[in-house]
Amino acid sequence: MPEFSTVEKNGHFRHIIQLKPGERVSLCRCYGSKNFPFCDGTHNQIHSNVGPAIIEVPASVEENEEGTQSS
Ligand code: FES
Repeated sequence: MPEFSTVEKNGHFRHIIQLKPGERVSLCRCYGSKNFPFCDGTHNQIHSNVGPAIIEVPASVEENEEGTQSS
């Protein structure tokens, strides 16, 4: 499980999730998860077509000539 914290900024809560290379998470977009912000499959019981956002970090990241990173 990735490192996760919640911070408040300007009256709004923000979830900060730190992923390591090769990690993957499913983030809830239906707001029904009991494990928010992570998807727990509750979206399957909600009558909509909303599913999770899948976030993946490539296993290896290389820096290119412009100094930006690519996988
Ligand atoms: S539980 Fe909300 S998207 Fe899966």
